[in-house]
Parts: sequence; structure tokens; C-alpha cells
Amino acid sequence: MATIHVIALGGSLLRPEEAEKREQWFSRLKQMVVHLEGMQHSIGIVVGGGAPAREGIEVARKHISDENKLDKIGIAATRLNASIIQQVLTEVGINVAEEIPSTTSHAADLLQSHSIVCMGGTVPGHTTDAVATSLAIEAGAEICIIATNVSHVYDSDPRVNENAKPFTEISLSQLGEICGIGTTLPAGTSSVVDPIAVERAISASLDLAVVDGRQMDRLENAILGLEFEGTKISA
Ligand code: UTP
Repeated sequence: MATIHVIALGGSLLRPEEAEKREQWFSRLKQMVVHLEGMQHSIGIVVGGGAPAREGIEVARKHISDENKLDKIGIAATRLNASIIQQVLTEVGINVAEEIPSTTSHAADLLQSHSIVCMGGTVPGHTTDAVATSLAIEAGAEICIIATNVSHVYDSDPRVNENAKPFTEISLSQLGEICGIGTTLPAGTSSVVDPIAVERAISASLDLAVVDGRQMDRLENAILGLEFEGTKISA
């Protein structure tokens, strides 16, 4: 029986500004999934909305005040990005689920018979980090890996504070303090990990990892349970 893994793949990873980097990233992603399928690993990939989510929400925000409606625009963008990853991986000839499930329970079922299941968001009120955490719990994954565009969880925002300190290992409760558990993110805004995802991980004692998804070796090592550069977050 295959070992099941779940990754929250940040939407920003699909669209680096330079086309060459984008092509390299997709090539490395394809190599990685082929390698993992050969080793009997199945992966649930929950894809974020990235630029199309931000743009869509920004365009509509001037006319819509209901955050739930804006969230639905974000969800549509996550499903667009999930379709891109799904179709690209289908080209490689591996066992990719044809559907983009809209619930984590459906995705968990599909993971029983496919090497790759791609999905995006589900319902308003959280981000794809929270979807990935729920899927990891339902599918029985040991860890939920958050692949994003920073190398680690930091003690403050590294884009604002150049002295921000990266953590290699922290607890879920420390991560909860950093992300602000109990707060809800307005549509289209983000934190290194969605606080709702951290709350779900705490309730289920699920380990998390944050890795730079631009560096496929780090992501693959985290999936395989090897030493990886990034932040290990223990329950
Ligand atoms: P993302 O999961 O993409 O948010 O959802 P993010 O944290 O900005 O992630 P990256 O940058 O892509 O990695 C985008 C928006 O879609 C809505 C929310 O408004 C979120 O901010 N969304 C997404 C939902 O309402 N529900 C979902 O299940 C997923």
C-alpha cells in the first residue's frame, strides 16, 4: 500500500516572474512525482491561488463587501491553479486523478487509488493551508508540508525585518503565537501559515513542515522524511 503525503503548494510557486525559472520548476516537479510514484508514495497536492486570487479579489473588492463572496473568487483561482498542476502532471503518464475534488473527504478517497490528487480550496473562511491540513488528517498522512516562497518560519516578517530569525524547529503552539491563532484572514491576505490550519493541526496532533517550494530537493526530502532545510513544526 502506498504511503500518503499531503502538500499545500503555494500559488506563487507556479508563477515566478521569469519564464525560465517557471519551466525549470515544472520540470523538477514532474521528475519528483515520477520518482515518488516509483517508490509507492501518493501525494495530495492542495494548490493555492497566488496571483490570480489576489488580482480577482482586488478587482471585485471595490464592488463587494461580503468577505465570503470574495473568498469564492479566491477559491475559483485555487481551482484554476490546481487544474494547471493536474494537467501538467497527467502529461507525465503517472496515475493522476482526473477530478479536482471540492471536498477533502472526496480527495482522501481518491488518494486510495491514485498517485496524485490535485485540489484547490473548498469553502469560504480559510485558505488552502487549512484545506491541506484537513486532508492530511482525513487521509492519514503523518505530516502536512507547506511549500511556500520563504525558506523557514521566521520570528518576524523577513520582508519587513532584515534581522528576522529563521526557526529550524518549533512547536505547533509557538507557530500558533507567530501566526495569531484566533484571527481570521480577510479574503486574499496571508500569513506564513493560516492560523486556522495551525488550530486544526493542534487538535489532531499533526506535525507540519514549512519548506521553500522553489527548491524541489528540500520539498522531496521533507516528503521522504529525510533531513530538509526548512522549519519542522512538531505537535
Ligand atoms: P490561498 O490558499 O491561495 O491563500 O487562497 P494564500 O495563503 O494567499 O496562499 P498562496 O499565496 O496562494 O500560497 C486564496 C484565497 O482564496 C480564498 C481565501 O480568500 C484566500 O485568501 N479561499 C481559499 C477560501 O475562501 N477557501 C479555501 O478553501 C481556499
